[in-house]
Amino acid sequence: MKITAIVGSPRSNGNTSCLVDEALQEAARQGMETEKIMLGEHRVGPCLGHQDCPSFPECLQRDDAPWILEKFREADGIILGSPVYYYTITAQMKAFIDRHYFLYTHGILLKSRCAGTIAVAGGAGLERTDRDLRRFARMVTSLPEEKVVSVSGYASKPGDVKSNTPLLEEARALGARMVEMLTSPDTTPTP
Ligand SMILES: Cc1cc2nc3c(=O)[nH]c(=O)nc-3n(C[C@H](O)[C@H](O)[C@H](O)COP(=O)(O)O)c2cc1C
Repeated sequence: MKITAIVGSPRSNGNTSCLVDEALQEAARQGMETEKIMLGEHRVGPCLGHQDCPSFPECLQRDDAPWILEKFREADGIILGSPVYYYTITAQMKAFIDRHYFLYTHGILLKSRCAGTIAVAGGAGLERTDRDLRRFARMVTSLPEEKVVSVSGYASKPGDVKSNTPLLEEARALGARMVEMLTSPDTTPTP
């Protein structure tokens, strides 16, 4: 089983990336296959708003979004991580979310059976960012509230988060909780 994390920070050595690493390392320690995709290391342009995606077999934009979305689709568990930029998610994460519209309009569902969200702010806007990430995670997976676990906290310069032991521990707990959800029998009633 695989957990795939999508990170919206442009800083590969940043705080969000560090917390995502903690979560994934814990999941890997418990036997999961894991992968982290830093959106800032790839080309993911904003949706161009044709609104007629279903008439095309592939997104008209030739960039990295299609293969990243495919990894996102096939993951058993997904993690979305973003720093807070002007009180919400980064432009990189928003572009990725909007590009999911292609899957949505083609009726392509994610496999994910649980999700995690991780948000980091310098000082303000954490609540809204956490809410935005959770809303997207739930929208694309149709998962109930309790199957989406979230961690958020404060840090500013790259690496600041490394001295926040409780937050690192929360991130590891998020990874552990996702493994638990993926490996325990599903008791969610089928509609
Ligand atoms: C363009 C920009 C906008 C930001 N806006 C906010 C903000 O609204 N609220 C806040 O608390 N921090 C804000 N920050 C600070 C980042 O959230 C903070 O540095 C965070 O640790 C960055 O995460 P990263 O290391 O994963 O990239 C902003 C930083 C940048 C570069």
